[in-house]
Amino acid sequence: MRIDVVTIFPEYLAPLRAALLGRAIERGLIQVDVHDLRDWTHDVHRAVDDAPYGGGPGMVMKPQVWGDALDAVCDEGTRLIVPTPAGRPFTQAMARAYAAEEHLVFACGRYEGIDQRVIEDAARRMPVDEVSIGDYVLVGGEAAVLVIVEATVRLLPGVLGNPVSAEQDSFSDGLLEGPSYTRPEVWRDLAVPEVLRSGNHALIDRWRRDQALERTLRRRPDLLERLPEDSLDSRDRAV
Ligand code: ADE
Repeated sequence: MRIDVVTIFPEYLAPLRAALLGRAIERGLIQVDVHDLRDWTHDVHRAVDDAPYGGGPGMVMKPQVWGDALDAVCDEGTRLIVPTPAGRPFTQAMARAYAAEEHLVFACGRYEGIDQRVIEDAARRMPVDEVSIGDYVLVGGEAAVLVIVEATVRLLPGVLGNPVSAEQDSFSDGLLEGPSYTRPEVWRDLAVPEVLRSGNHALIDRWRRDQALERTLRRRPDLLERLPEDSLDSRDRAV
């Protein structure tokens, strides 16, 4: 998979080369390029923004600069992702869909956003998603790109040491994951739940499922409401 990011703060994307993502790059599983939007400006001030039509606070990013940048970076196989608090909420299902793409391009807006015609024009040639990572406002799209890329790349075959961890994630079965424990058996008077030390794997699986159900009910009842009816068995319903 190829990933291109266009931003006015290329240094903000340095974490894309760290840890899990860095290893995926080294192993040739992904190719990542970060571009400075100002490389496509034509004036001495390298201006990327201008006052909004209709008035109001803040500045809007100029269409000519973004148009030239996207013309240079996008090709036939591109999906363009524009992080914005006004976008569709990012989900695990979207991460799975992005993991199947061959080329993702991220356009990071700052200020009050990018002139909407940039998105309209790009959508004439490629799929475009305006995506939000949550109901809060960041200063720009860069932190959202780090979130979306990490959630996507960890799903690529060969990126995680143990692929079962991606399968057992919170959200992959529609539930939050329950608690985990490691040694020692007792720490600061707190003991690991007996059942996890029983060696009875049917009992352990049932206990984990009950913990996931209870946690989801307490913290995210909205997720339980969205579960397909046939994904709960009679023991689940008792919880
Ligand atoms: N840019 C600013 N806030 C954002 C958010 N919540 N999600 C995605 N991009 C953003």
